[in-house]
Amino acid sequence: MKVLGIETSCDETGIAIYDEHQGLLAEALFSQIPLHAEYGGVVPELASRDHVRRIIPLIQQVMQHASCQAQDIGGIAYTSGPGLMGALMVGAAVGRSLAWTWGCPSIGVHHMEGHLLAPMLEQNKPQFPFLALLVSGGHTLLVDVSAMGQYRIIGESLDDAVGEAFDKTAKMLGLAYPGGPVISKLALEGIPGRYKFPRPMVNRPGLDMSFSGLKTFVLNTWNESDQTAQTKADIAYAFEDAVVDTLNIKCKRALKATGHQRLVIAGGVSANQRLRTRLTELANSSSIELFYPQAQFCTDNGVMIAYAGLQRLIAGEHDGSGFSTTPRWPLDELRAPGS
Ligand code: KG4
Ligand code: ZN
Repeated sequence: MKVLGIETSCDETGIAIYDEHQGLLAEALFSQIPLHAEYGGVVPELASRDHVRRIIPLIQQVMQHASCQAQDIGGIAYTSGPGLMGALMVGAAVGRSLAWTWGCPSIGVHHMEGHLLAPMLEQNKPQFPFLALLVSGGHTLLVDVSAMGQYRIIGESLDDAVGEAFDKTAKMLGLAYPGGPVISKLALEGIPGRYKFPRPMVNRPGLDMSFSGLKTFVLNTWNESDQTAQTKADIAYAFEDAVVDTLNIKCKRALKATGHQRLVIAGGVSANQRLRTRLTELANSSSIELFYPQAQFCTDNGVMIAYAGLQRLIAGEHDGSGFSTTPRWPLDELRAPGS
């Protein structure tokens, strides 16, 4: 079965065709980053309008690259939540309507399940069960994964998501959006040890996290500093180091609590090199296998949605005659495919 995947939950229009046997056939991504850059974050109404402009030409482009006709597509998967309501509506309406026109089934996919399964797109894919650290602009979750659709959230951020903390910190330092890649690039020039920021909630038992205090710490440090370029780099380093160290401590604790031998990291922040290096060290020192998607599949894309949708369509799941979107949708409400 070939599945057309559509991702429009936030500021990326991602389209892909994934084949059950051949794997990824074609994909295209349009990033709205320049559109939102001057506002320092995503403007929901601008996002929806731009998805409307991009989605059909991108679908045509991907169909052409994959040499597919409408009759070749066995199902359509679109992100139905969580995300921005208007943005989700664009992908859902187009996906459901195309499926109706082409006479194939469609399915709404949970965006974070897409991220969680993105490492399955790699040659060396994780077997179930595993521990997953999902770190994106909207979510920070530690998930005990028994199988696809069987997710137990064992830790989460009580306030800002990690990606959000990167973005807000970058904004406070006058850096570009999205903040994650910019801060980690700047941090390479930072002097280790000049500043040491707190590791939030690591001295308390449990797996929950908090990142909003760290952001305030950055602001106060910056305001009280000489505000030179070197100081900015030093603060970027200290911030990233504190975030990565905190995630490392929580992963170590979660691996111990669950007994899992495999750790999966996914979501936009899993592209972070320092995080990957630190967790690789953790994995090597404790005989744990670490898995993460290639950089382009860490951030939002249509491929992960096509892949997750394919698994559910194969199991016989599909939409009824209508469709719905779910802007707030806890990951642990999902069930195993077909159940
Ligand atoms: O998964 P994603 O594309 O969208 C959501 O589902 O939210 O994640 C976007 C987030 C942004 O906050 C961005 O700053 C962060 O991922 N990000 C990074 C890096 N690349 C993207 N954070 C840290 N280091 C990176 N290299
Ligand atoms: Zn995402």
